[in-house]
Amino acid sequence: MNEVVSYELHDGIADVLIDNPPVNATSHAVRAGLDEAVRRFGGDADAKAMVVRCAGKTFVAGADIKEFGRPALPPPLPDVLKAIDHCDKPIVAAVHGTVLGGGFEVALACHYRVAAADARFGFPEVKLGLVPGAGGTQRGVRLAGLADTITLITEGKPISASKAEAMGLVDEVAQGDLVEAARAFARRLVAEGKGPRRAGDLPMPTDDPDLFDKARKSLGREMRGQEAPMKALEAIRLGYEMDFESALVREYEMCKEMIAAPQSRALRHIFAAEREVVKVPGLSADVAPRDIKRAGVIGLGVMGRGIVMAIAAAGIPVTAVAADADHLAAAQKAITKMLSSTVDKGRLKQDEMDRRLERIQWSVAIEDLADADLVIEAVTEDIAIKREVFAALGKATRPGTILASNTSFLDIEALAKASQRSEDTCGMHFFNPAHIMRLLENVRAAGTAPDVVATIMAFGKTIGKLPVLSGVCEGFIVNRMLSKRSREAFFLVEEGAAPAAIDNVLVDYGFPMGPLALGDLAGLDVQAAARASRKDSATARELRADFPEQLVAAGRLGQKTGSGWYSYDENRKASANEDTTRMIAAHAERHGLTLRDIGDQEVRERLLFAMVNEGAKILDEGVASRPQDIDVAMVNGLGWPAYTGGPMFWADQLGLDHVLRTIERFQDEQGAGYWTPSPLLVRLAEEGKGFYG
Ligand code: 3HC
Repeated sequence: MNEVVSYELHDGIADVLIDNPPVNATSHAVRAGLDEAVRRFGGDADAKAMVVRCAGKTFVAGADIKEFGRPALPPPLPDVLKAIDHCDKPIVAAVHGTVLGGGFEVALACHYRVAAADARFGFPEVKLGLVPGAGGTQRGVRLAGLADTITLITEGKPISASKAEAMGLVDEVAQGDLVEAARAFARRLVAEGKGPRRAGDLPMPTDDPDLFDKARKSLGREMRGQEAPMKALEAIRLGYEMDFESALVREYEMCKEMIAAPQSRALRHIFAAEREVVKVPGLSADVAPRDIKRAGVIGLGVMGRGIVMAIAAAGIPVTAVAADADHLAAAQKAITKMLSSTVDKGRLKQDEMDRRLERIQWSVAIEDLADADLVIEAVTEDIAIKREVFAALGKATRPGTILASNTSFLDIEALAKASQRSEDTCGMHFFNPAHIMRLLENVRAAGTAPDVVATIMAFGKTIGKLPVLSGVCEGFIVNRMLSKRSREAFFLVEEGAAPAAIDNVLVDYGFPMGPLALGDLAGLDVQAAARASRKDSATARELRADFPEQLVAAGRLGQKTGSGWYSYDENRKASANEDTTRMIAAHAERHGLTLRDIGDQEVRERLLFAMVNEGAKILDEGVASRPQDIDVAMVNGLGWPAYTGGPMFWADQLGLDHVLRTIERFQDEQGAGYWTPSPLLVRLAEEGKGFYG
């Protein structure tokens, strides 16, 4: 056919093979080749049935995202699928790997589906800000029914082959060899005289407006701000409003309109950026990662426990070292309890829990880390204590063992010096809860060896994390940017913005919560301690805006004490706290401050542009090597809404000229100490460029 689609005849069965690495996406060549294959099959009198399958590790994993935004070359996917659908001889899809989006739609347009037992099926289009555009909503709903289709398409989560079979989306799950099973299936169809069976000929399931209503409400809550899931409901509904063929035409139009819309552009940017950040610029592919057969974690507080769990879950033996027997017992108990509760919820099998626990070797002796290939330090955030631990690790472990600190803001260079093994020393900053949060900020210090960088990036992926590389600076990427937002939030409170008004602005923008609610969640004592550690470099105004300290002094540490900026009920539901209002008024009186009305736009711009400006500085200083590193870190570490593309992408969409002018206005109003525009921002704005060029 062409270079990516081949056609062969075996015993009266046409074998159509798509071979388009890496994921067999329906690029132009695949569409053209498939179209030609169907035509050839139609005219091949010796071919009685056809099997469509893929080479490599997966069936078609979707439309080719790289072609989005460029003029689409014919034939469009829906036309190719129409040709498959309308073929008068039976076509069987033999699917394996990830059968996603346009790939799932190829399979659904085929008349029958045989799946490998470990195949995964899904419509991830909503995650790219899209709806399925090649019949997924219409064929899907006719085969799987309304409730399952709504879930599948609006949530975008994959399902197993057996579940797909139970839903009516798969005809057979192959027990042995997939190709053999699919050919046998095709031969049976021929022998039994069975022709094509088209999903479009099936009736729509009975309409159930309640299901749509319920879905609308839950999506409004769970996927707040995102346009695609609601549009997906509209697309499914097309089947009730028009005939099958017209619904397919409209569904494709919707998909194309959404490809051009800002949310999809932003989500596709994040998709590509997440794949880019794991590739470290300047790190040669020849640099082989070190082999990590055993890991170690020292310090078993909340973070250390989470890291131990993440490593054990990935199948890697880990030595967990606590300060003393009491801390060790507490950690053992906590980890066992967390795993048990996952088993109770049905999300983990008991035997897998047992295997994970067996991988953990418990100890109170640093010497037991002697056989570890990588040790992650997660002791108290105190530079003096960490220095001691790194000095001890430098002696207790053999040269070549990687020594990584989980610190969230302390100086990795100081720890490298203490270990006397700077080439082996680096940062691996996990986010809380460490066994769940995807982001891992790896930190390269001046002396960190290139193969250590390669190892921590690869190891991050092995334990299911999304690793981003940062250079050394206080707070690295995420916490450094976050600290500017927190500072601005406290200043806004001092100037008269109500805490709930501040938080609501960011929730409306798409964050899961605002800065003050986040303080309540993380613990105001933690925030106050972090402020105390930086007090020597703080300005008088920063010291004056001491709300975390005031709340802590009043015993209001946040959610854990039932009160902080807000009051919390036993279900941790927040409500306004009158004491907070009184605290702010007293603070203003004490310091002679005049409170004023502050509009939402000012709140939004001050909170968000403070981060954009800091991001630009981080980029300019080379702490992050690309804007992608910042966008991915902020989306995955701070919950910056992915559908805006992250701070740097979002700023580009606004126009850096506008961002710069606004920052310069804040500089005049608030003082240069807080709002000096980053030189990079100034340069790019003058050149009419964005962070992305
Ligand atoms: N188009 C183009 N390239 C794709 C792609 C796609 N749909 N999916 C993955 N790739 C590329 C990646 O960019 C990456 O490229 P790189 O090596 O240059 O960085 C390479 O394939 C491998 O991808 P991953 O690193 O993600 O590999 P994994 O093995 O971890 O995951 C996967 C494989 C599960 C297929 C994952 O890549 C994925 O989820 N892909 C996206 C699937 C998707 O969203 N499909 C729907 C597209 S929209 C659509 O189909 C619309 C339709 O309804 C008309």
